[in-house]
Amino acid sequence: MLGQNQKLVEQAKAVLAKNDRGQYTVPSLQLYPHQWLWDSCFIAIGLAHHNPQRAAQEIKSLFRGQWTNGMLPNIIFGSSDTFWAGPKHWQSHVSKFAPAGIETSSMTQPPLVAYAAWLVAQKLPEAEREVFLKQIYPGLLAYHSWLYRERDPANSGLAVLVHPWESGLDNTPTWMKALSRTPLWISVLLKSGGVELLRRLRRDLKNILSEQKLTDIEALKLVHRLYRFRKRGYDSRLHIQKSRDTMEDLVFNSILVAANKALIRIAETIAEDLPADLRFRVSQTETALEGLWDPETAQYYSRHFKTKRLIKVSTIATFLPLFAGSIPQRRAGQLVQVLKDPSRFWPAYPVPSTALNSRYFDAKRYWRGPTWINTNWLIINGLLQYGYDQEAAALKKTCLELVASSGFREYFSPLSGEGYGIDNFSWTAALYLELTHN
Ligand code: GLC
Repeated sequence: MLGQNQKLVEQAKAVLAKNDRGQYTVPSLQLYPHQWLWDSCFIAIGLAHHNPQRAAQEIKSLFRGQWTNGMLPNIIFGSSDTFWAGPKHWQSHVSKFAPAGIETSSMTQPPLVAYAAWLVAQKLPEAEREVFLKQIYPGLLAYHSWLYRERDPANSGLAVLVHPWESGLDNTPTWMKALSRTPLWISVLLKSGGVELLRRLRRDLKNILSEQKLTDIEALKLVHRLYRFRKRGYDSRLHIQKSRDTMEDLVFNSILVAANKALIRIAETIAEDLPADLRFRVSQTETALEGLWDPETAQYYSRHFKTKRLIKVSTIATFLPLFAGSIPQRRAGQLVQVLKDPSRFWPAYPVPSTALNSRYFDAKRYWRGPTWINTNWLIINGLLQYGYDQEAAALKKTCLELVASSGFREYFSPLSGEGYGIDNFSWTAALYLELTHN
């Protein structure tokens, strides 16, 4: 067993080396040949065990794409032109805040970076640690300040997302329910046989069976939302004011709580004072997260920003407040009961991205059912914070088994363990390294 584990560790390192572009690592050479924000965070967390300097570089490279208003984009484009939603769809320079000399997307992704930076820093030799943290602190501060300034117009403490891509769970039923209206042009396109043309443009289907990816209508809706935001010059405040479909997203805000705590620790380590208004907003987020709890179903949900209604679809997001670490112990106990329910979240290979008994559940399709290693890792960390060591160990075992039997796949069947999506996927490899170390 030890032998096999060691072999997989070497294979995981080889996957990361192959996807390494020098300063940063792509999630997948075939499918995602650019840099993604939360992917690089997971990658850095894994790399830190074997090469902390390279892990620090991974984090630093994210600031190449930082907008002058502080935003960190979810994608920093490299030279490949094979990605279906490439720079020409984004045209990020319609905003005066887009950085010069580099192509990026125009929205963000779960704000894991301060948290990842803190973990990486712990692995660096002491002398390098402070230098690293000092280098990235101004960028981190600008990012968290941007989140509160531009994405929390109600001053509630919760960040508002403008697009499902920002949640990291692209086609999660929560967002797809919120975007249930189909824009006219999409209906017309679908009725007039435009699907044939679309299928040719959808390069994400080149290497993957379509049953494992976004449906055509989901893909079109994502692009539609992007164009709407672009039309408003990527002005977050304006978009949030005008758009009907923005969300106080549960995954994003749970990660924000954990990242805020890391930011405070970083500031303390390098003897910086976090601005008082930011400290206030940070504490507000912890309190506001509790507003996303639904006593009736004993779960947390994302909330529609305009209507203030919880989107009561049972998905993996419900467990992310464990990672936040700010919720009361009794809530953690209630969540663990939901997690361990075999009819909802505890099949042979937990944790499915959508509840098994949900009408949206689909064991093969992206965020509508498959088990992902990154969300499992976030939940494992959450469980450990609340003393659920056995459950954490069971999930860790599942992750290691999935990789051992199906490889470094993007996602897996929660029912059979079969591997889906692309192979040699960076965060699966990186988190394998992390899980085998801890
Ligand atoms: C998909 C995932 C997203 C990830 C990206 C690159 O869009 O939904 O979470 O960051 O691929 O791996």
